[in-house]
Amino acid sequence: MKFHLNRYLLGLSMAIDCVESELLGVTSSHGRRVALISMQLARTMGLSEEQVFDIAAFSVLHDNGLAEENLTVGSSSRDRLRQVEDVPAHCEIGERNVAMFPFQSDVREIVLYHHEQWDGGGFFGKVGDAIPLMAQIISLVDYTDLKWRLGEPGADKAEAVYAFLNARRGRNFSPDLVEAFHQISASIAFWLDLRDPFLAGALKRTMPVFEIETDWQGILAISKVFSRIIDSKSRFTHSHSSGLEEKTAHMAAFFGADPETIIRLRIAAALHDVGKLAMPNAILDKPGKLDAAERAKMMEHTYYTRKCLEQIPELESITDWAANHHEKLNGDGYPLRLGAEQLDPWSRLMTVLDIYQALTEERPYRASLSHARTMEILRNLVTAGSVDPGLVRAVDRAFGSL
Ligand SMILES: [Fe+2]
Ligand SMILES: [Fe+2]
Ligand SMILES: [Fe+2]
Ligand SMILES: [Fe+2]
Repeated sequence: MKFHLNRYLLGLSMAIDCVESELLGVTSSHGRRVALISMQLARTMGLSEEQVFDIAAFSVLHDNGLAEENLTVGSSSRDRLRQVEDVPAHCEIGERNVAMFPFQSDVREIVLYHHEQWDGGGFFGKVGDAIPLMAQIISLVDYTDLKWRLGEPGADKAEAVYAFLNARRGRNFSPDLVEAFHQISASIAFWLDLRDPFLAGALKRTMPVFEIETDWQGILAISKVFSRIIDSKSRFTHSHSSGLEEKTAHMAAFFGADPETIIRLRIAAALHDVGKLAMPNAILDKPGKLDAAERAKMMEHTYYTRKCLEQIPELESITDWAANHHEKLNGDGYPLRLGAEQLDPWSRLMTVLDIYQALTEERPYRASLSHARTMEILRNLVTAGSVDPGLVRAVDRAFGSL
């Protein structure tokens, strides 16, 4: 089947952008803004349309390796971003995470080198044109957007940005790239396109369209890129999406689902918590019970999952399975408060397995639970009318003897 790679990338970029915007505290759409400017710079520097597409993907994904492991509690949001960005590990982890993405040109080490500087002052000491051009471009745009909040209006912003870039020409950035930035930013439209209300339209206009010929297996492979990013956000969920994916496939086979349905269910499981990228680590990793406000915030994550997947028409048939995993048969779930008649069997299965997977994982406030203890909790949920009794029995049979 034909698969529209742009829509897929832009759909999921919404959630990816939330990671950096959380760490930075203010700006939103950073990755997409980096994508828009980087594509224009890439064209000006004579890169092919395949490479222009790839630089958009790298821009969206450049900081996918950010995690809060190295943070000192209590520092300001700006310091916090600096601290995590100041660790070369986020480049190495990020590079590994994106390895399976179907880039259109033969490029590597762009995420790895996105903090290199022209004069060799970066993490890995690469100098000048030894740094891949795409990495040079992303570095310049990333740095400039973080410093100058290019999506926000401001008097004399262009002048300030030019002064900033000119001062770093030949030091942090290549002189040719600084020159190219002057060229692409000469119009008022360039600056307006960067603002949130106009950004999506500008991206659509600027990004070359790539449809790849693939099958569900191929879409699963791309989706695993994102499930790795989701799972690596918190050390407590490092195998949550992949674990759910395995259990879902196991149960679907147990119920005699055909191979294609099993793969589509795997994709739904891989992406079910993509909305968690928009949740603060302060909540995900809190070593205690969540308070009411934190619980309410947490409940937003499946709404974000739906919003992301809704932008990808090819995934329409799996969107409900992925986004309904916190809905309950008695209407007590979230975010839509659906009821039994609106929840198909695979959505119901995803709910039961998500609970099973989560309870058998360690959390900041408790150890992982045994199969027996997990089944006890699931049976209580059956009594409360929340989850499907037949599915809970089947899960007990399937995993009880493992
Ligand atoms: Fe970075
Ligand atoms: Fe960035
Ligand atoms: Fe969830
Ligand atoms: Fe989950």
